[in-house]
Amino acid sequence: METAAGPSGSSSCKDDFLLSDPTIPLILASNSFTESPLTQGKLTPFIWDKVPILIPEIESISDPKDNIDLDQFQPVLVDSSRYGILVNAKAALGQIPREKYRSIREQANPFEKIGRSIFMNRAGVKLVNLDAVFGLTGHSGGLLAQQTAKEFTFADIAGAPGAFSQYLLYRNPEAYGYAISLKTRSPSLRWKTDLLDLSRLNITYGEDDTGDLYTNADWFANWVRKTAPSGVDLVTADGGFEVKNRRKQEILSFRLIMVEVLTALQILKSGPSEETSGRLVLKLFDTVTLLTGELIFLLTLAFKEINIIKPITSRPANAEKYLVARGIRRERANEIVLFLRELNSIYQSGRIVTQLVNPESIPECFFQYLRAINQQALNNQLIAIRNIGNVVKGIKLEIPIYNLPKSLIIWNVPGNEEVRRRYNVNRPIDTPNTGYRATIAGSAYPAQRDISEPLSQRSPRSPRLTHSQPPTIM
Ligand SMILES: C[S@@+](CC[C@H](N)C(=O)[O-])C[C@H]1O[C@@H](n2cnc3c(N)ncnc32)[C@H](O)[C@@H]1O
Repeated sequence: METAAGPSGSSSCKDDFLLSDPTIPLILASNSFTESPLTQGKLTPFIWDKVPILIPEIESISDPKDNIDLDQFQPVLVDSSRYGILVNAKAALGQIPREKYRSIREQANPFEKIGRSIFMNRAGVKLVNLDAVFGLTGHSGGLLAQQTAKEFTFADIAGAPGAFSQYLLYRNPEAYGYAISLKTRSPSLRWKTDLLDLSRLNITYGEDDTGDLYTNADWFANWVRKTAPSGVDLVTADGGFEVKNRRKQEILSFRLIMVEVLTALQILKSGPSEETSGRLVLKLFDTVTLLTGELIFLLTLAFKEINIIKPITSRPANAEKYLVARGIRRERANEIVLFLRELNSIYQSGRIVTQLVNPESIPECFFQYLRAINQQALNNQLIAIRNIGNVVKGIKLEIPIYNLPKSLIIWNVPGNEEVRRRYNVNRPIDTPNTGYRATIAGSAYPAQRDISEPLSQRSPRSPRLTHSQPPTIM
């Protein structure tokens, strides 16, 4: 990729970056609805308008994937000694037997019981949560108008079993989606097609029938563009796989995140304004190496605004967080696509990439932003792990009490059995248009599809508490 025009000037660099989900102050049990998230600190986006000199330098070495030399990928964008403590603490957590860990986590994570609303798994409520914070779907209904019907297209990449698509199609039954995800032997990672409206979701496994974005990123982008030539309104990229060594997770996940970006940049709608152009939701793990920092930096060039957030629906002891970007800069995005395509072919030839951009050409302001995010993420994870440790030791936890059903109300989705049981809520907190025929003030609300059950088995008020997320600390 050619160098871009560079600034001699600098961009304003705020130092109050926050990773916190603004839902938190709203659901503190003591505060009711009186606290505004703004009074608790606003989620500050990173906006980089002036583009510095960008000289990509690609070093590549021959190295099999499992044999990655971590010395080349030091955690330089965080306090490295505290990061070492975190990695060791996570390794220790890995020693706790799965079943036991599940129950400990339940006690230590104040948001664990938020449940999954009416969706097939917890990932569904993560997108609900992100939508409420960032207005991804443009939905603005009240409790009796949880659904919207307007033109809306999306691509759900690395999206199986499909809770993200399920949510998007619930929120907007007129939406249309394109989806791809790795074909795996694990039944829990196959598309749950019985819970998805396949007349509005087009699932493909790509040119080679693997669903693998490593080999199908460009093919998928062309396939989407054939029927949606101007691109899609939203790309969700939630890819991940189990990595035993947490310290390696960031580096081993790098190629997947990179091809997700490669795909997304090709299919996001460019619009006259930030409001009308497409949005990206991209899952990240740790972001403490220069390699990841450089990729995120490229995203700050491709978009007018990026935010990094850890939604409360994401387990606090893990590294997962989400980057939400908007306002694509089409020309620059196209340049970056060429560059990422080249990187992907390096991986395809059995080598790995150690550097994308000369770090000296990245403004200090950007690193300041990422370090602040990383430091906060590190501290939050250490607190969450200490809480888990205290449960193991039988020490009583002092954590704030949250009103979790309220979060579902704020996010404007139906409740679920888990939260009801926990809070001993006897009457349904679902609103009338979420699967049940009901009459309010004399008018009959039409029954909507109950999308938490297979189409063939839908019946009102049947229990639907069967699935919970596998106990990973991904
Ligand atoms: C956490 S799950 C996604 C959950 C999903 N968002 C939902 O709402 O149900 C991560 C997905 O990434 C997929 N994945 C991992 N590597 C991939 C690859 N190389 N290409 C495509 N998908 C991949 C996994 O198979 C898995 O389905």
